[in-house]
Amino acid sequence: MTPHIEAKKEDIAKIVIMPGDPLRAKFIAETHLTDYKLINQVRGMLGYTGYYKGKQVTVMASGMGIPSMGIYSYELFHYYDVDVIIRVGSCGAYTEKLNLYDLILVSESYSDSNYALTQNGYDKKSVLSSPKLNDQIIKAAINNNLKLNVGKIHCSEVFYRNNNPFQELYKNEHCLAVEMETFALFHNANLFKKKAACLLTVSDNLVTKEETTSEERQTAFTEMIKLALESVL
Ligand code: HPA
Repeated sequence: MTPHIEAKKEDIAKIVIMPGDPLRAKFIAETHLTDYKLINQVRGMLGYTGYYKGKQVTVMASGMGIPSMGIYSYELFHYYDVDVIIRVGSCGAYTEKLNLYDLILVSESYSDSNYALTQNGYDKKSVLSSPKLNDQIIKAAINNNLKLNVGKIHCSEVFYRNNNPFQELYKNEHCLAVEMETFALFHNANLFKKKAACLLTVSDNLVTKEETTSEERQTAFTEMIKLALESVL
């Protein structure tokens, strides 16, 4: 047990799929896993372990933002010997070239966050996801006829910004979209020499101002979950 996870070590699989929202973790377990059981409900951060096509996987929520993802991914990698975490989330697109519901596989996370610097002195603004795991996801996408956009994204600490220079982040840093968790996840994976990846569905577009409703997001989310699960088989 850790301060934030009550599961026994053997109740968490080596592979964890991580949505931000606890109710999405519940939804994934109910719709995609067999023989699943609830393994965590501390702070309502629901986690379930079950089987997908015979492979044991855990689905557990990360909560929102770098600090929350930082805590859960650290504990899963370090105390529960988890090998692989795949985040499945949503993002806001920084370019009109991306449409609502497009899928992004995050190769690199760019952030102004001090998370990595404070954690162990890592002083760069970018962290990479795991190339081998990304290759597995790309192969699964090809096999399942899903179009993936692979690229760098911005991991922001602020959702409600009064000044948002996202055009500059797109032009100068080549950030395709914004979300709020990958910088901590990828840093912790690199710290423990583990593997991490992130799949994102475009839920809003900061250029065109288009956005999805939460019901619509649920449907699009299903394709992404399936891809995450297929890629770890
Ligand atoms: N900003 C930050 N995170 C997000 C957004 C956004 O616009 N959309 C989905 N996740």
